[in-house]
Amino acid sequence: MKNKISIQWFDELDSTNSEIQRRKDTLGNLSTIAAVNQTAGRGQRGNSWLVRKGENLTFSILLRFSPGELEAGRQSWISEASALGVLDYLRSEGVQCRIKWPNDIYYRNRKICGMLIENSISEGWLSDSIVGIGLNVNQKEFPASLVNPISMAIITSKEYSLKEELEKLCGFLAERYVKKEYSRLKSEYEENLYRIGEYHEYSDCSTGRSFIAKILGVTDEGLLRAETKEGELREFAFKEISYII
Ligand code: BTN
Repeated sequence: MKNKISIQWFDELDSTNSEIQRRKDTLGNLSTIAAVNQTAGRGQRGNSWLVRKGENLTFSILLRFSPGELEAGRQSWISEASALGVLDYLRSEGVQCRIKWPNDIYYRNRKICGMLIENSISEGWLSDSIVGIGLNVNQKEFPASLVNPISMAIITSKEYSLKEELEKLCGFLAERYVKKEYSRLKSEYEENLYRIGEYHEYSDCSTGRSFIAKILGVTDEGLLRAETKEGELREFAFKEISYII
């Protein structure tokens, strides 16, 4: 593998994203921190990310940008590159997944991976991004409170070495990041979107009403583009739509 990221492993952290945040000033581009156990893992929408100790991957990568490199309006590139890097890795392991916008990874109708991406912006440009990734690897039983989880082990009936798998996964992610294809990933990301081009049910978070729509793709800013069954073209930010699965 061409790009090797150096990974610092910890037995236990509150959250790998928080650890990078605390030590950001001393860490370089692509610094990666992984934890065998997270005691206060954070998820999207203010949720917590709960995993069984030592069964799954929980890690964060720091991306650093120079002033003038990536506009704040194109920060969705980070989701695109990260999600495609995870898909590249899973495909190399024989696990065919899709991206549930903006950056969940789904196997059929079940979630195998979630990401928490925390960006810092200065004067209209990205200065850095902490990409936190939770990938279900060996866990076979999940709490009933999680709606639709799945892991690599459930899909393939294999048991994985977390350290070996993280080395491989980081290689695929680094390959996406170092290419810096800031204007060229959107169409590949769209081709890999969960439910692209099919009618399904969603809920409009502002009204609580459900509706049927077909996902068309994303805007340059990363909004989800969809066409309702009635032919209305709509764009959604992250907290404005939820999928009914
Ligand atoms: C989600 O789907 O809600 C996002 C989950 C992100 C979890 C990962 S685990 C590693 C990193 N550290 C955290 O505290 N969260 C992210």
